[in-house]
Amino acid sequence: MTITHEGPHSSVGESADKKRGMNLTLRIWRQNGPQAKGKMVTYKVSDISPDMSFLEMLDVLNERLILDGDDPVAFDHDCREGICGMCGVMINGQAHGPQQTTTCQLHMRSFKDGDSIDIEPWRASPFPVIKDLAVDRRAFDRIIQAGGYISAPTGTAPEAHSTPVPKKDSDAAFDAATCIGCGACVAACPNASSMLFTAAKVTHLGLMPQGQPERDDRVVNMIAQQDREGFGGCTNIGECSASCPKGISMETISRLNHDLLGALRAGARPKS
Ligand code: SF4
Ligand code: FES
Repeated sequence: MTITHEGPHSSVGESADKKRGMNLTLRIWRQNGPQAKGKMVTYKVSDISPDMSFLEMLDVLNERLILDGDDPVAFDHDCREGICGMCGVMINGQAHGPQQTTTCQLHMRSFKDGDSIDIEPWRASPFPVIKDLAVDRRAFDRIIQAGGYISAPTGTAPEAHSTPVPKKDSDAAFDAATCIGCGACVAACPNASSMLFTAAKVTHLGLMPQGQPERDDRVVNMIAQQDREGFGGCTNIGECSASCPKGISMETISRLNHDLLGALRAGARPKS
């Protein structure tokens, strides 16, 4: 299949060389459903603008597949601005591809004309494939439900200075809160561990005064739920943090372990 696309910045005055986009070979995981057997299928795309995002390149492929009466490639996306956490695929074996960003914020200028690109779904048994590149990440929702909340009453927002928070705590809590739940940390980890995700959620609430009432129960219940979901344990490999588009640090996992030990010593036990 050959797909032609005129780049968004091409103009009449540009040289023929400058106007020509990239020709790429894509090997994409196609799987009709959760129980179906999947396989890599090869597609060729041409005249791909370096200014396109990776998802726009997939859109171009899908438009042509639809026009040809073929089944388009299923993949998750929503905001396309790096904030919702919906997108995410393995690109040449790396979660979200060669840059430390989300798949929607990855641009085709990260690739060269003539490249072959392997595109696969997250590979982790707690994230079963729904179709093609789309996986079921509801295991993350259940981890959040197990403890990722506070019981402070809602209502009118209190005056910002009425509950002082040390700057270093508010900065660390904010950094942890930038986790978008994309799942790249799990996909990158050889153990399929979700520790970085869970640690980010435990940390962003556990460092704030409003998160203290449930602090012990939160950490033991979220850890118990991630174990029930089948995520592996952390062995400090660090691929999670290296692949995280938000740069959540391994120190966050240390904070979780500190909280967990403290909670267990204080007698907290997970709900069965
Ligand atoms: S910790 Fe990073 S990689 Fe993991 S879910 Fe959150 S944002 Fe994604
Ligand atoms: S589509 Fe929202 S983060 Fe990529």
